[in-house]
Amino acid sequence: GEQGALAGRHVLVTSGPTHEAIDPVRYIANRSSGKQGHALAAAAAAAGARVTLVSGPVAIPDPEGVETVHVESAREMLAAVEAALPADIAIFAAAVADWRVADATPEKMKKDGSGLPPLALIENPDILATVAHRQSARPALVVGFAAETQNVIAYAQAKLARKGCDLIVANDVGGTGVMGGDANTVHLVTRDGVENWPTLAKQEVATRLMAHIAGLVPVRTGV
Ligand code: C5P
Repeated sequence: GEQGALAGRHVLVTSGPTHEAIDPVRYIANRSSGKQGHALAAAAAAAGARVTLVSGPVAIPDPEGVETVHVESAREMLAAVEAALPADIAIFAAAVADWRVADATPEKMKKDGSGLPPLALIENPDILATVAHRQSARPALVVGFAAETQNVIAYAQAKLARKGCDLIVANDVGGTGVMGGDANTVHLVTRDGVENWPTLAKQEVATRLMAHIAGLVPVRTGV
């Protein structure tokens, strides 16, 4: 058959939200649907790659032809990502919770009249930054997403530098229902500049992004 642009490559994708436990029945989450990340994993598989998708809790099916690893929390996601390395390309599309509850309780919290629970938060690991800064088994191309409601390009440029990744796909999630919706308006931010894309279906963003990314990874020589 025809060889895809990513034949012989291992592509790792994170997708969806994370759930951070408060107690056994409650959690902190966000509005990520996983649609963009899952579409990227499917597009990478369609381009001939071996794909590992590490997904937080989502309501959409596992993409066909993709090895999908299901996780809940940011810490579980980091462990699954590290277990999936090495990869040629890593794309971090998950909306990872920035914070988790410091002392998630093993039993359900009760309204016992002793006041409101304090819910102290602590920082989660940054999965993208951890992988991008690895000394060994760093993927040749590390791609991050940046969902912003203002100063989209400036924040993305700062994020590119701080997180040590090669490309940031920035999108404006202010107002118009990008999170959970089917369309996305993205800006590709690298050290060399910014490429603005028109509003497209998330499927189309995924297909075009995988073609773009395939053109960025170093060409394999020899066998
Ligand atoms: O800092 P911010 O959350 O906006 O960065 C977004 C990018 O970083 C996304 O690619 C997201 O998947 C990744 N990220 C991560 N681990 C975190 C926070 C964000 O991988 N704890």
